[in-house]
Amino acid sequence: MCGIVGYIGNKKAKPILINGLLRLEYRGYDSAGIATIESNGIKNVKNKGRVAELENNSEINELEGTIGIGHTRWATHGKPSEINSHPHMDNKKTTAVVHNGIIENYIELREFLSKNGYEFLSETDTEVIPNLIHYYYEKTSKSGKLDFLKAIKETVNQLKGSFAIEVLNNDFKNEMFVLRKDSPMVIGKGIEENYISSDIPAILSFTKDFYLLNDFEFAVLGRDYIEFYDSNLEKFNKEIKNITWDMSSAEKGNYADFMLKEIFEQPKSIRETIGSRVVKNARIQIDELDISKEYLQNVDRIYIVACGTAMYAGMTAKKILEKYCRIQTEVDIASEFRYRNPLITDRTLCIYISQSGETADTIAALNLAKEHNAKTIAISNVIGSSIVREADYSLYTHAGPEIAVASTKAYTSQIVLLAILGIYFAEVLGVSYNELEELKEEILEVPTKIEEVLKKADQIKQFAKKIANEKDVFFIGRGIDYTVALEGALKLKEISYIHSEAYAAGELKHGPIALIENGITVIGVMTDNLLSSKTISNLQEVITRGAKTFIVTNQNLENVSFNEIINIPQISSYISPILSVVPLQLLAYYISKEKGLDVDKPRNLAKSVTVE
Ligand code: AGP
Repeated sequence: MCGIVGYIGNKKAKPILINGLLRLEYRGYDSAGIATIESNGIKNVKNKGRVAELENNSEINELEGTIGIGHTRWATHGKPSEINSHPHMDNKKTTAVVHNGIIENYIELREFLSKNGYEFLSETDTEVIPNLIHYYYEKTSKSGKLDFLKAIKETVNQLKGSFAIEVLNNDFKNEMFVLRKDSPMVIGKGIEENYISSDIPAILSFTKDFYLLNDFEFAVLGRDYIEFYDSNLEKFNKEIKNITWDMSSAEKGNYADFMLKEIFEQPKSIRETIGSRVVKNARIQIDELDISKEYLQNVDRIYIVACGTAMYAGMTAKKILEKYCRIQTEVDIASEFRYRNPLITDRTLCIYISQSGETADTIAALNLAKEHNAKTIAISNVIGSSIVREADYSLYTHAGPEIAVASTKAYTSQIVLLAILGIYFAEVLGVSYNELEELKEEILEVPTKIEEVLKKADQIKQFAKKIANEKDVFFIGRGIDYTVALEGALKLKEISYIHSEAYAAGELKHGPIALIENGITVIGVMTDNLLSSKTISNLQEVITRGAKTFIVTNQNLENVSFNEIINIPQISSYISPILSVVPLQLLAYYISKEKGLDVDKPRNLAKSVTVE
């Protein structure tokens, strides 16, 4: 979705803003722009298309200012075009604004402003913001920045929806103003220079010291100061946070794409996620949680709620929670959960999973649980993200920044963390099974086993070449393998644009087998000793009908003939997706490359889905 950067310091703002926008490209966008304060006022340059086109825009060479704001726009209101791109300015060209989020009541606000003589050039919801700021600022005595802050405050009081906004004004040539509500925004502190971004990796090369802005908090950035104001415009101090992600984690290094890098980083990201939480022959340590046996005994059900890949990770935890904790567990799509009036009581435990921590539907689903006084746990990869701030407890996956739109290392880190959480709950409840002790040991072995799977990359690449031109691909599995089939199909369609669907293998005969015809590819996942023979029967049914088969398995399949078998190490079926997904991630990656597509930034998709 849209991205924001801002800079104030003693250097030229333009290259720093462009650098930040390039690092935000992964979020998905269709136009870009920057505005800087020049000696003769604000200068605004923007265009439809990539940041590279903005860099080549002849007008950009005129920008010399040392304070500026930048934006990548993912079109919501109005098509991608220069006029709809941000920054937007008020009619008098005094104020420039970039905005992430959606202003739901922009039509009423446009009408109000039109009646007061304002005109609109774009189709966007954003254009009301600089004009409203102008309108309210004109009503003050314009005697200092507090008056300008009042105008911003009056403006945001009128806005319904979500917004992170960055504002420049001609009267304040050495300051930049920001505010957020339900849309991410961080402030980076440098030495005699300060930064703003919607996303930490965009400015990680400049600083590791961050302030995390909360809803309805205002910040005013000067070159060597940052002031914070609460919603009553009272000044307050904010704690600074040091981010431990290193710069290289947000760069491709020797890899052709971020996605490939992130797939290969999985042994490391799993190690980081396990951290000191799992130690052999000791109880699980989750310092962030304070959950008692009495509370867990009283829980009426657990909901695990998320979107997309994070939801598929959530599906893997149901078995462990129901079998060992004996707590009914349901896994829900956040966009469905929030509107389906789920049975939430003050005895319900709701777990929300979101790599970015900013997914609008997941946040709304979390707020719903809070309205019912249910306890909430957030699992996220981004420090200080919105779900983390909203939930009662937060657990980080520590996978490092995930830049590719298609999630890989975040998914496997989420699964390992959920398994750890499941064992933790079982231990708090006082249940003890040898299997759980073994599972802890298996968790510790996962990174080494992923390294083994990664060695199959070449074999997978060769198979990818053979099926890159397919129109349809089907994925099947049973039990936990079905959840991986879902994730494999999502990965493939996201980055290769091949129509791919996953089915629970037992469901094939109830309809989908009608789609099987000569030459079609069916991908089977089999890691569960108890269910694999059943899936083999289903695969034989599709082979009989002419299907080509690609199998990911840790089973002995000597007597069955498949086109390609990727053998993976043995692993407990509670966490097998962490290994079995890796060949599917690589397959999707190599097919996308074979088709010459943009792996990291697939069409129409955004890394962080901050609107519903
Ligand atoms: C994953 O490959 C997808 N791009 C997408 O399904 C993603 O997992 C989903 O949008 C949820 O994002 P989140 O984890 O940041 O909430």
